[in-house]
Amino acid sequence: MLRIVQYPHPALRYESRPVTEINDELRSWVREMFDLMYAARGVGLAANQVALPYRFFILNLTADPEQKDQEQVFINPEIVKRHSSVENEEGCLSFPGLYSNVRRAKKIKVTAYDLQGNEIHADGEDLFSRAFQHETDHLSGKLFIDMLGPLARHSAASKLREFERTFRQAQESGEYPNDAEIIRQLDAMNQPAPAAG
Ligand code: NI
Repeated sequence: MLRIVQYPHPALRYESRPVTEINDELRSWVREMFDLMYAARGVGLAANQVALPYRFFILNLTADPEQKDQEQVFINPEIVKRHSSVENEEGCLSFPGLYSNVRRAKKIKVTAYDLQGNEIHADGEDLFSRAFQHETDHLSGKLFIDMLGPLARHSAASKLREFERTFRQAQESGEYPNDAEIIRQLDAMNQPAPAAG
């Protein structure tokens, strides 16, 4: 059973490795992630937000579980081109209740693989562009709070301390292992598959 982890869970700072195989396990993680995302009323969710150290994320920009045709899965995503920039409000399911303005590229050109293993080449702007950049950052352990200006950072500070306290308490109560153990588990999942023969 997957769950969305919150800041400062170490998976959120973990540099994920590329997906090398699309298999049933991946497909079932994706299904579970969509369910978690809808329950949290989000439009995107990256694998490391459910403590999986692999490079993929999901989007449904409608946030509407009825609109299955709007579900998108991006495996090993890359942003190959960025054009102009725009500031807009952003939030993250790993920081519930924290919203802040973030400047990002307005238009992007991307590549990835879908869940069928087909190569995707897409252009997008506005919400697609913002969400794609936000989720791709997650896969490299980068968070939207890293992009705040001094004033926004200052106003987020008390909220971040609150997240910090809540997570440390969850560790003390045994709900999560300590950071070293979490990182050991992520490293173990992040090993390349042994070569056959
Ligand atoms: Ni996020």
